[in-house]
Amino acid sequence: MIRINEHYLKLKASYLFSDIAKRISTYEKANPESSIIKLGIGDVTEPLPEACREAFHKAVDEMGTREGFHGYGPEQGYVFLREAIAGNDFQVRGADISADEIFVSDGAKCDSGNFQEIFGDDIKIAVPDPVYPVYVDTNVMAGRTGENVNDRYDGFVYLESTPENGYVPLIPKKKVDLIYLCFPNNPTGATATREQLTAWVDYAKECGALILFDAAYVGFVRDESLPQSIYEIEGAKDVAVEFRSFSKNGGFTGTRCAYTVVPKGLKAVDASGNEHSVHALWNRRHCTKFNGVSYPVQKAAEALFSDAGKAEVKALTDFYLDNAKIVRSAIEALGFPCVGGDNSPYVWINVERPSWDFFDTLLNEAGVVCTPGAGFGTCGEGHIRISAFNSRENVVKAMERIKAALSKSGSLADA
Ligand code: MLT
Repeated sequence: MIRINEHYLKLKASYLFSDIAKRISTYEKANPESSIIKLGIGDVTEPLPEACREAFHKAVDEMGTREGFHGYGPEQGYVFLREAIAGNDFQVRGADISADEIFVSDGAKCDSGNFQEIFGDDIKIAVPDPVYPVYVDTNVMAGRTGENVNDRYDGFVYLESTPENGYVPLIPKKKVDLIYLCFPNNPTGATATREQLTAWVDYAKECGALILFDAAYVGFVRDESLPQSIYEIEGAKDVAVEFRSFSKNGGFTGTRCAYTVVPKGLKAVDASGNEHSVHALWNRRHCTKFNGVSYPVQKAAEALFSDAGKAEVKALTDFYLDNAKIVRSAIEALGFPCVGGDNSPYVWINVERPSWDFFDTLLNEAGVVCTPGAGFGTCGEGHIRISAFNSRENVVKAMERIKAALSKSGSLADA
């Protein structure tokens, strides 16, 4: 019989959000009358912006004509979208990124999961803890780790985000080759200051490392003093790749469009020390394994950069940020310390008790779904994440239910 890739056997039995979905389904079967409010997975709920729907419709109609029909597009994305991205997301903020450094794709999850493929098997990798599980699992699948012992894989350097460091990990003492960073952070919602990012860029330069910077939640940053792109930091173009997505700011979780920035000057070496272009390697990989995002979807994404589109994106992200404020103040009023929710759609709550137990309490006593922190790593234990992605009515109702359930069961924070 055919043999499997045994590295898959090191993975935890299922992906975090599948685990949660199973618990919800068990609960729903046992409580068919229940009306669960889901504040777990970060999936948007509000309709697609009108500007982007109009562009989408128009592009579909074009596809119905001989002149406007599009077959395979460029794997890297259409120039119209790459130029709109470079101009609006980077150049206006003084980050010198050009359109040909942008690779359009169908998701930051895929890109942040796939990027490791172009590097050696024996590189040393630093991952945050708590962490978006995709960074970890894809490296485990690729065979870069040992077994999982006590929820940690042998071979990773874990960058701990704790209450003590304000959930922004410190720079490791050891030299590493590849560093995953995510700001605003998933799951904690914490943000990194210009000084903190500068320290990471300097560290990467010093040890010849590459930073994979996940900025999927940047659309929620409101504090003007915070950098929005790692390329706003001097020298970052020599050491960093950045992932972005239209999922959360433009409501594209179901529509699928994202992009990755790979600066042309970024270099990596082979075993003999010869330098190679990371851009060329990623281009090679992308063209071999990906056939581009559909023309109508790219047109819809481009429309997010029109004046009307920008206003709608701002309104959408403001709406979720207002939800986040409601969550954070309701939970703080119950006595639990929180971070996030101000420049991020996630509120990270220190519940100071086992996070899966707390998850079960909220599900069973309040009919509210959160994400247990332990699912994001050892340092996530004792915490839960509440997402702001839902209707206002549901968020308000969920907070009322949580308050009632915790007060009744005596599960409020210790005074
Ligand atoms: C999350 O809930 O962490 C996100 O929805 C995951 C994702 O964007 O893939």
